[in-house]
Amino acid sequence: EPRVFSGVQPTGNLHLGNYLGAISRFVPLQDEMPSIYCVVDLHAVTVWQEPAELTRATREVTAAYLAAGIDPKKAIIFNQSQVKEHAELAWIFNCIARMGWLNRMTQFKEKAGKNRENASVGLFAYPNLMAADILAYRATHVPVGDDQKQHLELTRDIAQKFNNDFVERIRELGLGIPNPEPTPESPDELYFPITEPMIAGPATRIMSLRDGTKKMSKSDPSDLSRINLTDDAEAISRKVRKAKTDPEALPSEVMGLEGRPEADNLVGIYAALSGRTKAEVLAEYGGQQFSVFKPALSDLAVERLAPIADNMRRLIADPGHIDAVLRDGAERAAAIAAPVLHDVRRIMGFLEAR
Ligand code: TYM
Repeated sequence: EPRVFSGVQPTGNLHLGNYLGAISRFVPLQDEMPSIYCVVDLHAVTVWQEPAELTRATREVTAAYLAAGIDPKKAIIFNQSQVKEHAELAWIFNCIARMGWLNRMTQFKEKAGKNRENASVGLFAYPNLMAADILAYRATHVPVGDDQKQHLELTRDIAQKFNNDFVERIRELGLGIPNPEPTPESPDELYFPITEPMIAGPATRIMSLRDGTKKMSKSDPSDLSRINLTDDAEAISRKVRKAKTDPEALPSEVMGLEGRPEADNLVGIYAALSGRTKAEVLAEYGGQQFSVFKPALSDLAVERLAPIADNMRRLIADPGHIDAVLRDGAERAAAIAAPVLHDVRRIMGFLEAR
């Protein structure tokens, strides 16, 4: 059965990239498929987190989910550490994934930097935990930004290796689901689905407002590089006004954005905020200068983001409510994940004495 899973780390400032690339896309999916949205606190601690700050950020991401329109009556919202199956399945995947696969992960190389000897083991194994998040629910669809693509390929590789390694057991125990795309190398029955990444639309990779070749990120030291979800109208319009651009007018066709990363980025942001394509945005603004386009973009961003920021502030003021949403979500999530882990233990031959 189709099921959506995605997650956001409770680290630092949520920004426009997180919203347009991920959170805003979660909202319509909750009406299409059973959906699970996680605050991945276990992932956050792969690098040092101040405990009080981790608690605060966990509530903030939850507030962002709710403020953006995810309805906890429809979708499951919870924080990862409250459902122990994530950590358990991650250990099993540590034993399925190969060192060579993880050695290829570009995000580890970026995050560990030069001082790889001093990176936590958790940072290296990070993608295995992400695979566990998804596969503990046998989720089929994962909406994310472009930067998660390689991790989702690894998730598919882990699922495939597990399915192949235990093909006989899965069949014997009658636990398989029909393989939707059987090939000569893959079995006709699977335990874990081969997850579909959902990386689409004009906002899969929002770039820094100061440098069109760098991704907008929580960790950029310049606050002018990103629009935070909690920025007020004044901050948003100042950041858009100061955003780096080139001196040309906007082109009238998407092809004309090639080689103009800053222009491309601002048009993509406008498109995503207005629910249009870049082509549609350029049909309206092609030939216009940034002196015209930037105020329009800034108005649109304020119109779309200010209500979310207001809602977030209101929600954060009542941590008891947020915690209750997470507790309820964790119970519902565990009810799905626990039987999966029970199956996995049987498939692998772990003895469960009862
Ligand atoms: P995280 O917390 O870094 O980012 C959350 C989501 O925001 C997207 N994103 C962006 N999209 C467009 N432009 C940007 N500049 C931008 N920056 C971030 C990310 O792609 C992501 O979708 N490993 C994940 C969290 C995770 C997860 C999972 C996701 C853990 N387990 C299972 C899906 C399924 C992460 O660090 O996201």
